[in-house]
Amino acid sequence: MKAAELLALPYDHLPPEAESTFEGHRAFGYDLATALADLVDNSITAQAKRVWLDFEWDGPNSTITVTDDGEGMVEAELLAAMRLSSRNPREDRAAHDLGRFGLGLKTASLSQCRRFTVRTCQLRGKAVTRCWDLSVIEAANDWRLLRSGDADAEVCFKRLASLTRGTAVLWQVLDRTCASTRTDSQQDHQHFLLRIDEVRTHLSLVFHRLIGGRSGIKLFVNDRPIEPWDPYLEDAAATHLLAPTTLPFGRAKVHVHPYVLPHLSKLPKKRVEEAAGPRGWNGHQGYYIYRNQRLLVAGDWLGFWPRQDLYRLARIRVDLPNTIDDHWQIDVTKSRAVPPPALRGELKRIGEKTRSEARRIYTHRGAKLTPRADEARTLLWEPRAKHDKTFYRLNGGHPLLKHVLGTTTDKPALKALLRLIEETIPLHHIIVENSEKPDNQPQPFEGSESKALEVMEEVFKALCESGYSESEAMDRLGAHSPFDLFPAILQTFKEKVKV
Ligand SMILES: Nc1ncnc2c1ncn2[C@@H]1O[C@H](COP(=O)(O)OP(=O)(O)O)[C@@H](O)[C@H]1O
Ligand SMILES: [Mg+2]
Repeated sequence: MKAAELLALPYDHLPPEAESTFEGHRAFGYDLATALADLVDNSITAQAKRVWLDFEWDGPNSTITVTDDGEGMVEAELLAAMRLSSRNPREDRAAHDLGRFGLGLKTASLSQCRRFTVRTCQLRGKAVTRCWDLSVIEAANDWRLLRSGDADAEVCFKRLASLTRGTAVLWQVLDRTCASTRTDSQQDHQHFLLRIDEVRTHLSLVFHRLIGGRSGIKLFVNDRPIEPWDPYLEDAAATHLLAPTTLPFGRAKVHVHPYVLPHLSKLPKKRVEEAAGPRGWNGHQGYYIYRNQRLLVAGDWLGFWPRQDLYRLARIRVDLPNTIDDHWQIDVTKSRAVPPPALRGELKRIGEKTRSEARRIYTHRGAKLTPRADEARTLLWEPRAKHDKTFYRLNGGHPLLKHVLGTTTDKPALKALLRLIEETIPLHHIIVENSEKPDNQPQPFEGSESKALEVMEEVFKALCESGYSESEAMDRLGAHSPFDLFPAILQTFKEKVKV
């Protein structure tokens, strides 16, 4: 049947129940940080240059206010904005628009609080206010939009009052964050402060290209400016930008910039920590999807591959215009995107190239485990490849090992013990434990230099026993891992044995 015929059929008028509709709109999967990011999107779309997020701790009466100096709205616009689903997602949007479903203001706010009030004012216009309160909607079971907020709200609108234009969104009754808290509880307050830190981190991530960039937008959390995150370490000399690519998609263009970051050992510790991101180095590898410079996905392999240690240095920037977000299945919380089939092949190919380069850089340091032919270093452990897997074996030519094997009274037991050590290296544990802090691994003999001296002495003796003169043995000692890392201790040892 055609639409016109369907329209002519008899019908019941069945609007949704106000109360359950509102309750349903609370569960879209936002958390505090993603919900606030959605309000900041609205501010940026309204051409705001400054956005202030103010968190006021007062136990169950705590509030969060987001104030911007954007264009503001007239009363009719505010009414339209307060309506659940105010825009059709299939409508075209202005190129700079960060909105998507016409839901964000309401769903983001309701996901975190039971009362939200919006006050807005255009240049030389009059301030207008509207408020949705779930307890009112519940009591009346009606779509009752209040024309003012409660009297306590006024202090939260002070910042807006000092601006010539702008919009403030106030959240009260923060039941997700502050329900059953006590104002005087240190612990509850700390918890609230931690949430604020998470918000700060999330915003510095999501808006890193908009903060301070050409758009010159400034975000503040309790008056402290948010610094942009720098996932690509673009100013680090060793960062590698592989060939940027532009992929046509219908009339739109998708720009792809694959980065391979420097080996983390090449960076100051502080930079490594900053660039790691909240999920850590492993958690932030992969594609970074932006829509109008706003970050949607902060590192994900889009289902092509799982995250793996080896590829932690690969971060691929993908820029989408907002005209094609329908095809990327961007969800309401704007934290997920799925590439359309037509682009998957190309994206995967770029991903493969970037990953192989990232792997090369990452393993560069690890590769030192295998000495080059011209290197005279002696290592205790040797990697052996077998059936596409790497095993680690003790080097039978190591002087100390040779010595104990030669002098032991129970060779079979010692050999069995060594084999057992080789077979039970806790590889899995090492990988899991160290994947999030690759640059915080203990160094050989860390904090126990006297032990290093003792071990050095035994290796030295074994070398002498194997036929080297004392001075030859001393020279060779420096080529034994890990003593090559301890020139100062080696010197002390040299002085001690007076060679
Ligand atoms: N801070 C703001 N300043 C000006 N207008 C706003 C602001 N926040 C929301 N609006 C208006 O309310 C509308 C609805 O917002 P929202 O529910 O977030 O949906 P969307 O952003 O998808 O359009 C926006 O399209 C905009 O017109
Ligand atoms: Mg929005």
